[in-house]
Amino acid sequence: METVVSGIRSTGKLHLGNYYGAIQNFIKMQHEYNCYFFIADLHSLTTHPTPADLHGNVKQVLVEYLAAGIDPERATIYIQSDVPEVAELYLYLNMNAYLGELERATSFKDKVRANPDNVNAGLLTYPVLMAADILIHKATKVPVGKDQEQHLEMSRTFGNRFNRLYNHEYFPEPYAFNYSNNLVKIPGLDGKGKMGKSEGEGNAVYLSDSPEVIRKKVMRAVTDSGPTAENQEKPSEIQNLFDLIKVVSTPDTYQHFDELYNKCQIRYGDLKKQLAEDMIIGTAPIRERINDIANDQAYLRQVARFGAAKARESASKTIREVREIIGFRNF
Ligand code: TYM
Repeated sequence: METVVSGIRSTGKLHLGNYYGAIQNFIKMQHEYNCYFFIADLHSLTTHPTPADLHGNVKQVLVEYLAAGIDPERATIYIQSDVPEVAELYLYLNMNAYLGELERATSFKDKVRANPDNVNAGLLTYPVLMAADILIHKATKVPVGKDQEQHLEMSRTFGNRFNRLYNHEYFPEPYAFNYSNNLVKIPGLDGKGKMGKSEGEGNAVYLSDSPEVIRKKVMRAVTDSGPTAENQEKPSEIQNLFDLIKVVSTPDTYQHFDELYNKCQIRYGDLKKQLAEDMIIGTAPIRERINDIANDQAYLRQVARFGAAKARESASKTIREVREIIGFRNF
């Protein structure tokens, strides 16, 4: 059976981009593959969370994984820092990761632009840690959104380079995965780019947002004054709303508003109302479970411990073999 690995950084609440880009696939894949889904708390250290915030953020993601329907009996759910073998593999892979290629990574360049005062080595080698996450379980499929595609390419590079250096076909090639065959990029509500945590207030709809908050955010989404000619191309902020409708609503709803747009009869207020209601319906089962799970400390502890043990079993096997391949020997 093929192995699947994916993770989400523990930087707070999960949004619809995380859900449609990644989690929706996790939930389906757990029935078909040997799955490892983790909470990337080591990755979150690049932005220096305070010790007081760290655990709460990890818990938030764990709770939302479970609320969304990831089943700890089917998939291994674990916290990255509970598996120290990941950090060891990261160290080995760092020896074959080159400054030039790391500096060229789009996500690194974006982060440098956004935070010029915090260009730390962890940020530079972020894709190496990601490769370690994936290769530690020798995964071949990685459910992620479009923004992670380049990181997957780098994971293949680092794995293949290790294999070549030690002349050993050890790591398989991991590929980004989405059931629809196309990786998705969920747009934000600000009319600019993707939905994301750091894109500013109102851009992201969170799985834990109440119906009132969702309505408010969607109704404030940026629109224009409407099409002036039939079958006119949609400007990006309108296209974004249609892209959201496409993932959240039914095909009939999409077609209905698309036809109205093309006939210049669209009323954006109606479109937004429908979009908000469909988001509310889509997230309701998750939202309703979040509080109960968050209050069940004993269950969370059990899930985290069980997951850590299972993940370490697989990871320690890889590390044993990698040490052997590299040439470490016991006296
Ligand atoms: P992160 O925490 O930024 O995002 C988690 C997942 O959500 C997806 N995603 C989106 N997909 C579509 N549209 C969006 N607007 C959107 N926003 C976020 C991301 O593509 C991702 O799948 N580096 C990773 C975490 C990670 C990881 C890994 C993933 C660490 N190690 C190993 C896979 C395998 C990250 O920061 O994702």
